Amino acid sequence: MRKVSVVGGGGNVGASAGLYLAERGICDVVMVDIAEGVPQGKALDLAEARSVRGYDSSIIGTNDYSDITDSDVVVVTAGFPRKPGMSRTDLLLKNAEIVSSVAGNIKKYAPNAYVVVVSNPLDMMTYHMMKETGFDPKRVMGMAGVLDATRFRCFIADELGVAATDVQAMVLGGHGDSMVPLPRYATVSGVPITDLLDAETIDRLVKRTAVGGGEIVKLMGTSAFYAPAASAAQMAEAILLDNKRMLPAAAFCTGQYGIRDVYVGVPIILGANGVEKIVELPLSDAELDMLRTSAGEVAEGIKELP
Ligand code: NAI
Ligand code: 2OP
Repeated sequence: MRKVSVVGGGGNVGASAGLYLAERGICDVVMVDIAEGVPQGKALDLAEARSVRGYDSSIIGTNDYSDITDSDVVVVTAGFPRKPGMSRTDLLLKNAEIVSSVAGNIKKYAPNAYVVVVSNPLDMMTYHMMKETGFDPKRVMGMAGVLDATRFRCFIADELGVAATDVQAMVLGGHGDSMVPLPRYATVSGVPITDLLDAETIDRLVKRTAVGGGEIVKLMGTSAFYAPAASAAQMAEAILLDNKRMLPAAAFCTGQYGIRDVYVGVPIILGANGVEKIVELPLSDAELDMLRTSAGEVAEGIKELP
């Protein structure tokens, strides 16, 4: 059986990712966390659901990083969500420290793994993970675009009263206010949404997508975890099954879209070799401008990394 480890697996996103991965039945799951007893308890709880839910993956929870040995994929959700009174830089420095320690352990125990970073601020943490592991950037990627796109897909589906699974969408850029949803490339079963919705409605859905994370924090006082976890699990699955998904994800740009040396959300082909390709869409000048501005903001954040 292939093996996926979730670092931060005792937390909200991590435990939910463990659940979604286990339910697919395509890998064994290891949930690592520094919180004592929590990953063990959640993993046992998930293991106890196996006979009812019908999957046979092994699921263990642990505080011992040596249990991630030989993982095919490591999903990293360890880190703090932003708390009231905390600046972006405070969060950046606190989570960078965590990412450094996680990177050391991945290097030591799972040196051949592909790494899917979820911890925020996403694009900067993914860059930091790549630097700290020293891995080929094709093996280190960030999950945000799948989440931002699935939110956009949900809002489009609800507006039109159609199946969310029939809606496709691309959201590029950094994971934050400057993300770049691309309505031109959003379709319902191949029909552009620009033929189905008026400009004002599309603009409202785009704006809602950009603040989609904040909408959930306002409702429940902490950040989202089901859709983020499902999105991270989908990326792990694309690597395990080598199914060449074309997904938006934070990838290391080396000149694509005129962007270089930063991680930012772009369309990638994701398969057994990680980020197999960055797809360059023919963007309009305005879209390209927004993407470059967003990448510029990530570059500013990267300068603050230790
Ligand atoms: P949480 O607080 O529920 O879980 C975080 C877990 O990380 C905790 O269980 C904690 O004990 C663990 N942890 C801390 N340091 C660790 C270390 N060195 N090694 C192992 N585990 C460690 O937080 P939640 O809601 O699960 O969010 C996790 C992160 O994911 C946050 O940074 C959040 O902002 C981010 N996030 C990113 C999204 C994205 O789209 N990229 C979406 C949702 C959340
Ligand atoms: C989200 O978009 C907070 O990044 C997190 O839900």
